[in-house]
Amino acid sequence: MPRVKSNQTKEVSFKLNGQSVSGKATPRLLLSDFLRHQIGATGTHVGCEHGVCGACTILLDGQAVRSCLTLAQQVDGSRLDTIEGGKDTEEILRVLRLSFKEHFALQCGFCTPGIVMTLVDYFRHYESASEKQIRELIGGHLCRCTGYTPIIKAALDAAHKLRTLKQAAAVENGG
Ligand code: FES
Ligand code: FES
Repeated sequence: MPRVKSNQTKEVSFKLNGQSVSGKATPRLLLSDFLRHQIGATGTHVGCEHGVCGACTILLDGQAVRSCLTLAQQVDGSRLDTIEGGKDTEEILRVLRLSFKEHFALQCGFCTPGIVMTLVDYFRHYESASEKQIRELIGGHLCRCTGYTPIIKAALDAAHKLRTLKQAAAVENGG
């Protein structure tokens, strides 16, 4: 089997929030570092760098993953969505932003991109959410500022807002 040198780079190309991007990555480069330092997508935060805090959560081919537990070279040819947003996540992100603001669901904001991307993943698949579901969803994220209650309130409010928007769109389209 051919050996790969630790400094041997590989071109990695993928869609980031709907835009084609590429960069060079060594075999051990973490996706979180690749996004921030090479691609310049600094919205994704890095906390623990070992999968515990959830700050680095992004969507990889539509699924929420820890970008600090993913190697940059693994995402060649994939579709990534981050807090910076794109067409696919635009409306959910706009609504979440508003709900987070209205419910004071962030203070330092360090945990926020990861929590928001976990919620984006959920709201892309489901219309409604109970408090229990939201608690379970954000159970994989650490927030040292808010005490979580405002985040839960914001998420429930966003679910309500998104449902209302969907119903209004259905009425408009005669559905
Ligand atoms: Fe990835 Fe903490 S930085 S989980
Ligand atoms: Fe500061 Fe969550 S708002 S860690």
